[in-house]
Amino acid sequence: MKEQKQKNIFPMDFQWGVATSAFQLEGSPAADWATWDPVLAGNPAITGHYGRFREDLKLLKELGVNAYRFSIEWSRIQPREDTWDHGAISHYQEIIDILRGYNIEPMITLHHFTNPRWFAERYPWHRSKSIEKFLRFTEMMVSTLKGVRYWITFNEPYVILIGGYLEGCTPPGEQDVPHSLLALKNIFTCHGKAYDIIHRYVPDAQVSIAHNMSVFAPWKKWNPLDRLLKKSANYFYNHSIITAFQTGIFIVKFPFSRAVEIEVPIKGKLDFFGVNYYTRIHLRFNPFKKMGVELRHLDIDGHGLTNIGWEVHPRGLAKVLRYASRLNLPIMITENGIASHDSQEKVKYMKKHIDVIEKCLRDGLNIRGYFYWTLIDNYEWLLGFDARFGLYHVDFETLKRSPTAAASYYTYLIQSRSSL
Ligand code: GAL
Repeated sequence: MKEQKQKNIFPMDFQWGVATSAFQLEGSPAADWATWDPVLAGNPAITGHYGRFREDLKLLKELGVNAYRFSIEWSRIQPREDTWDHGAISHYQEIIDILRGYNIEPMITLHHFTNPRWFAERYPWHRSKSIEKFLRFTEMMVSTLKGVRYWITFNEPYVILIGGYLEGCTPPGEQDVPHSLLALKNIFTCHGKAYDIIHRYVPDAQVSIAHNMSVFAPWKKWNPLDRLLKKSANYFYNHSIITAFQTGIFIVKFPFSRAVEIEVPIKGKLDFFGVNYYTRIHLRFNPFKKMGVELRHLDIDGHGLTNIGWEVHPRGLAKVLRYASRLNLPIMITENGIASHDSQEKVKYMKKHIDVIEKCLRDGLNIRGYFYWTLIDNYEWLLGFDARFGLYHVDFETLKRSPTAAASYYTYLIQSRSSL
């Protein structure tokens, strides 16, 4: 009832979208991840999206979204260092053209975790040559793909650094702090330079990264060490990147160690800010764990844990959006979603998070878009095929796509929030 009385606060040009990444839908034999996770050997083409993209793009039309975030699989475009696959470039151009035909605004992610194998072997991110290689790819993409205004250079750079260089669970599998700092410098240098390249070819481009933001809390509130960890994690994970876009300097400060300052050419190199938000993380000081930190998801507020054990914490979205608004730029929620086998859980998750966005808009935050993660069930990094984030269910035997209740609920939400 309350809903009907209040005027719709979502701007008419609000981007209602879904987000995907190429590798998670279609795999790629030339990517570093293809051989990283053994589960992919049994299902290298994952959902078969590379061949079925026309059918999958129709689902976007069926949903009624007006925006779609997807990534270009670099290893398909440049399977070898000296080879550009023009067929693959045309493939992605066709996706853009179909979207335009449906009046759906494309948003392209240039780098969503995967690298061509030749790049990973010869120029991993901690080597300075990585910059030149990524920028060649960027320039090739922006100079040939037509009809794209929204560009994300990197998906979740901090996740690349933490997984690949501190925990070592994702490529290149290192546990090396000096290398992680070099990789940080190189990745953000790439962003700064790619920002300029994109604007050179697409003068009205809107460029960002998609930054994973989380809410942190002390495991035990009474424990000063847990509280210290929470403060450090919140500063590093959520705020240091915002400050770096304002000043051009990253201040990396881990608990019990000296702060390191890293200069990067990214000051002001953002047109909007992309936020990926999923969950809250509780932290405990544990001297027997790596860097003295133990992470946990606790169901404190009774919203439950998802299929992959993440806490559902809608209030946290408001918190991170407030942090992001320090940049004084439009904000896009470039990812938000839940892994569940239960459609109704997906509906609830979506409703609760969109209610939070609505409240934030009423509080005056400049939010311009929401991209649900994700369109169809896919491959989840290190978790295989059972983390079902899709609005459409995929039967991995037959590859049949079927709508979940969350698909029609999203259509309803979009329609009801797109009218005056
Ligand atoms: C994000 C990532 C996506 C997807 C999602 C769900 O961090 O960008 O690729 O995997 O998490 O876990």
